Parts: sequence; C-alpha cells; structure tokens
Amino acid sequence: MDNVLVVDDERNIRALVARVLGQDQVEVHGAGTGKEGLQMADEVSPDLVLLDLRLPDMDGMDVLRALRTRYPEIAVIIITGFGQIQSAVEAIKVGATDYLEKPFEHVEKLKLAVARALDEVRAKSEIRRLHGLQEKQYGVDQIIGDSEPTRTLRDLIRKVARSEAQTILIQGDSGTGKELVARGLHYESPRRDFPFMEVNCAAITETLFESELFGHEKGAFTDAKSAKKGLMELADRGTLFLDEVSEMSLNSQAKFLRVLQERVFRRVGGTRDIRVDLRVITASNRPLEARVKEGQFREDLFYRLNVIPIHIPPLRERREDIMPLARHFLTESNVRSHKTIKGFTSEAERLMVGYPWPGNVRELRNLIERVVILGASEHIEPQHLPIQFAAQAIEVPRPESPQEFRTLAEVERAYINQVMQRVEANKSKAAKILGISRQTLRKKLMEE
Ligand SMILES: Nc1ncnc2c1ncn2[C@@H]1O[C@H](COP(=O)(O)OP(=O)(O)OP(=O)(O)O)[C@@H](O)[C@H]1O
Ligand SMILES: [Mg+2]
Repeated sequence: MDNVLVVDDERNIRALVARVLGQDQVEVHGAGTGKEGLQMADEVSPDLVLLDLRLPDMDGMDVLRALRTRYPEIAVIIITGFGQIQSAVEAIKVGATDYLEKPFEHVEKLKLAVARALDEVRAKSEIRRLHGLQEKQYGVDQIIGDSEPTRTLRDLIRKVARSEAQTILIQGDSGTGKELVARGLHYESPRRDFPFMEVNCAAITETLFESELFGHEKGAFTDAKSAKKGLMELADRGTLFLDEVSEMSLNSQAKFLRVLQERVFRRVGGTRDIRVDLRVITASNRPLEARVKEGQFREDLFYRLNVIPIHIPPLRERREDIMPLARHFLTESNVRSHKTIKGFTSEAERLMVGYPWPGNVRELRNLIERVVILGASEHIEPQHLPIQFAAQAIEVPRPESPQEFRTLAEVERAYINQVMQRVEANKSKAAKILGISRQTLRKKLMEE
C-alpha cells in the first residue's frame, strides 16, 4: 500500500487529502508542523510527502531540504497558497517533484499529481533494481557445467523456483556455488520482481540478529533513532536468503523458528503484527545434521528448513565440469585483464582435471584469475599451475576391462623404460629419478 504524508497546518486540508486519497487505497498520515512532519517521515517512511511551504514553526524549504538529504527516494509535492508560484519554482530547484495550488478545487488534479509522483517513485526504484540486475545476472544459465549432477541441479532449480515451495535448504562444501543457486532460485521464480535479501548468519551478532531481521521501532533501544524495517519486511513478496545458517545462535534459532512457522512477527519494540509473504532459502557448508547431533542446531528448525533440500556435490565428484568452468573463467579474466590467452595445453588440462579441488569452484576461479594476471601469455601450461598439481600428474593405467589389467611388474617395467628413454639410457640419472640404487636398477633391467 502506498504511504503518503501530508504536512500542512490546516486541518481541513489534511482531512481532504486523507478522504480523497483514501478512496484510492493510499494510506495517509498527517502532520501540522514541520518538526512533526520530519518526525513522522522517520516513523512511517512515506513514499510521498505533500508539503505546505508555510508552516507555523519552520520554513517549508528547510523541511524540503531535510527530506531531500535524509530520504532522497521520497517524492515531495509542494502545496502553495495562491500567488506563491515563485517559491514553488524555488522548491522544484531544490528537488521537489511537483507542486499543487491551494485551495484544491479540483480533487482530480490532486489525485493525478499524487498518482504521477507515486509512479515516478516506483519507476525510480525499478531502475535501481534493474541496475542491480544488470551488474549481477543471476539466472540459472549462469550456472556453468555439463556434468550429470549440474544438469540435474539446473532442472531442479527451475522446477523449485516456479513451485510454491516456501523453504529451501542448500547444502554443499565451501565454494560449490550455494549463493549462485540461491540467486538462481530467486531470479527464476515469479518473485524476481521483488527483493532478494541476504544475511550472513556468521557475520551478525546475536543481539543484532533480531533488529536486522525484524526491524525496530523508534526508541526500541538506545541507538534506535528512527524506525527501521528489517530484512523480512524489506524482502516481502521476494526471497530471504540466510547464508551460513549453521552459525545462528541457539537463541536466534528459537526466535526464527517461531517466525518461520507463523510468518508473522513484530519489530523490536513494536506492538503491531507484521505478516509477510516470503520464500526463505538457507545455506550451509557444514552439514546441518551433524550440527543437530552436536546439539548446536535445533532439530525442529532443521526439519522446518529442510523441506526442499538441494545438495551441491564437490567439484571433484563432477570432473566434467572442470574444463567448461575453467574456459568460462578464462574468458571472464581475459576481459577483465585485457588479455587474449587462448586456452589450455592438453597437459595443463590433464593436470587440472586430475586435481582434487578442495576449494571447489571458487578455487578454480581464483586460480584462473591469478594465472591470467601473472603467468601465461598464449596458452596456460603446466608450469603456470601450482606445484601441488604436478603431484597428481602421475598417470596410472585405468583398466576399463579385464583385458586391460596389468601386473605391478609390468607397470614398473614400462615406467622404467620410459624414464630410461628420457635420460638417454644414463643409468645413474635414471636411478636417481626412480629413487633406487644403480644396482637395483640394473637388476630390474636384467629381469626383462
Ligand atoms: N556452476 C558454476 N558456474 C559458474 N560459476 C560458479 C559455479 N559454481 C560456483 N561458481 C562461482 O564460484 C564462486 C563461489 O561460489 P559461491 O560463492 O556461490 O559458493 P558457496 O557455496 O556459497 O561458498 P561458501 O560456502 O564458501 O560461501 C563464485 O564466484 C561463483 O560465482
Ligand atoms: Mg556462500
């Protein structure tokens, strides 16, 4: 519901505006003085202020300036008396949206100006939202990878996003893409035109938790200089994303559980019940079941959150994703660093696909970025990769069928032969590389 504040010392003007706009489902608040008007603006966060320039206690222009600096997103329509056009023009220069002349003979004029101003407020907030979107494209297509688990994941996101599901729990190791999936769920859903609000439970203290989530009324505590909406209210009709939910304190868990059940809460220090329409997505890189067993996470909350579980496997369990991701990040890094690195040598690819990626996709992304900035010029080669990649590099035969089975002796002999070829049959060199004595090497060579 749109929210309008009328600041005018004439009671009948306030009543008239309330009556006229009330018909259009607009909530109207009134203030008789400038001071009261600013106070009300704090308390009710209006979308639009109708402001009389002649007030008993303050210059209307000062009220306008204060509104402009404190709440740049609020529209202000100036109400002027007959013959005050000049000051209306001044006010527009200071940032008023429009002006109206008293008395309001034509209520249609008033309605029209208000509707126009509210449209502008909405359009501006839409523009802000779209800008945010352009910076961060979060659709499901941003999730790269052709492995079976990743394709299934994309399908699942699309399906769940469009469903009525109210609570979703995403689990997966650090760097597997939980945040990406959470955003995907929001932007693939009909909720995409409403906010996606996120909070990292590990980053906020227990005392802040309530006021962050539920908001607070003015004066609820010492620092509460004005009323503030919490994330739950701000995310209304959209998505609330609670990251690292395993780190929420037991106290906060109890409070959150209650809200999750009823979807009704009160601001801190407030008496009014606020009902919101929210999809709640939570994520954790520590297995929540284990936290429940440890007594660190409420079992009842866990079941509440785990209505739709989404698990993202670690990167080493979907190795087909490694190179498509690497190429994607290479393109990104090339653009960012103005480079034109073409790709990976086959040897580098082999090392990358074999590496276990304990830091998952984030590690891969960081590696590519670093190599692009510091290392390669044409192609990314093994020498550009960190040393621990080489340790994985020993290629052992992978028998696909019984016919391909080899004995250890056969594998050993084949390897010794390869090394001997490399060092042009220099036995001392070969023995050193193989970590055995010359005599042992000679014996092994005789066994052939
Ligand atoms: N499938 C993917 N396609 C493209 N980029 C990905 C993919 N998975 C992860 N990323 C990228 O990897 C980085 C890490 O992902 P994200 O932040 O979502 O991980 P996370 O699971 O939330 O990690 P943490 O538990 O540490 O918070 C991000 O830059 C993200 O964009
Ligand atoms: Mg994350």
